[in-house]
Amino acid sequence: MSELNKNISDFDEFQKQEQYINALQDILYARAGNKQPLAMVRTYGCQQNVADSEKIKGMFEQMGCSLTDNEEDADIIIFNTCAVREHAEDRVFGNVGALKPLKKKKPSLFIGLCGCMMEQEHIAEKIYKSYPYVSLVFGTHEIQRFPVLLYEAVTSKRIIARGQDDGKIYEGIPIHRDGSFKGWLPIMYGCDNFCSYCIVPYVRGRERSRKPDIILNDAREMVKAGFKDITLLGQNVNSYGKGLDEDIDFATLLKQVSDIDGDFRVRFMTSHPKDVSKKLIDTIAENDKICNHIHLPVQCGSDRILKRMNRKYDTEKYLEIVDYAKSKIPDLSITSDIIVGFPGETYEDFQQTLDLIRKVEFTSLFTFIYSARVGTPAAKMDDPVPYEEKAKWMSELLKVQEEIAAKRCAAMVGKTYRVLVEEQAKNGMLSSRTANNIIVEFDGSKDLIGTFCDVEVTQARNWILRGKKL
Ligand code: 5AD
Ligand code: SF4
Repeated sequence: MSELNKNISDFDEFQKQEQYINALQDILYARAGNKQPLAMVRTYGCQQNVADSEKIKGMFEQMGCSLTDNEEDADIIIFNTCAVREHAEDRVFGNVGALKPLKKKKPSLFIGLCGCMMEQEHIAEKIYKSYPYVSLVFGTHEIQRFPVLLYEAVTSKRIIARGQDDGKIYEGIPIHRDGSFKGWLPIMYGCDNFCSYCIVPYVRGRERSRKPDIILNDAREMVKAGFKDITLLGQNVNSYGKGLDEDIDFATLLKQVSDIDGDFRVRFMTSHPKDVSKKLIDTIAENDKICNHIHLPVQCGSDRILKRMNRKYDTEKYLEIVDYAKSKIPDLSITSDIIVGFPGETYEDFQQTLDLIRKVEFTSLFTFIYSARVGTPAAKMDDPVPYEEKAKWMSELLKVQEEIAAKRCAAMVGKTYRVLVEEQAKNGMLSSRTANNIIVEFDGSKDLIGTFCDVEVTQARNWILRGKKL
């Protein structure tokens, strides 16, 4: 594989790639049949991938491409992939396979794959062998070299570039933001936590924080451009600042972002429970622009399993944070991730997860059946419970959560909330979100999309809220 890499020039700053971008403008134009080339970037997985795709799209724009969501129209297709669960990987394999007839019909079509899946050697090898019409494969550590990689792949030969984690952050990559009022702002990359089930530390490398002045500058620009809802992103935002020259922690950064002038709100994800500080909760409580919403993945309600997961907290510590946060932040919404059926989890362990869910009363949950990931410690653990049994546990969990959500929503009826209008729902109503991340639908003009409105909640149907604009 290194042989494939050898003729790629080792430029390590994005700015130095300008000559490749310039050259690609002409090459891609010609390949597209002397017209403006259309590039499609499809994103799988988490918000970090969404943010990476926004960089790839930004670079495509510099190469003179315009963007499309339609693969039939595209001259270049890039899939930005996710490795967190097998299901996500299977979807990518299926969708890459489905591109074969398109490539046959249009031989000039360029297909590339990037992201977390490509950082795994066995996957990159499989793609290289099984999908000869994929011309470029590059991992998460190579994103800043996209122009040179694309240049090499278009002009010379198929490229696989799985990089080393060099611990650096590459600033200055242009960004094409997908939204105009709701946006993502990465504050750090990588993860050092090595939860025993998780592939992320292996494919995204060690934790590193962006400099606070660069983040604040980006945030100011977003506010100036009209962004109303900014999410600060990192695998574990609570360890923000480690390794920086500046003496800064996440709570301070969050406060500094919220101090920027303008009518906007800020939220963040993801928070690891082991690192949540009282200072962070106090900062949320004291600043109006910081949303009263914390995404706090608990994963499981059994201390025995949490230990095997290497989560480094127990349910007592988790509930202590939740109680403190609820006591300080009015109308707080807590959301979480849960893994059902971790290796060795018994039905009794699972019942403890249900107990915890009932105690916390989460607003909503992202629930996953455990998926073994090659190279992680959990993949080597005994996993005797069959998938079908785990799926039954999952349905039991979803029923419990539905009841909690319905109760929570019913308690909101009659209250007024400031919402950000996001889109027109399929039923024609406007779909909006409260600061604590709950969706409220109401009748109104499409012109309100992207603006804040005051809405009184008039009706709760299970977890769907209806309201009227005041
Ligand atoms: N199996 C199932 N779920 C997983 N997650 C991470 N790794 C796995 C896995 N191997 C879930 C966790 C994490 C979320 C982003 O994905 O709940 O918080
Ligand atoms: Fe994965 Fe754990 Fe890191 Fe989250 S904190 S990305 S679950 S290793």
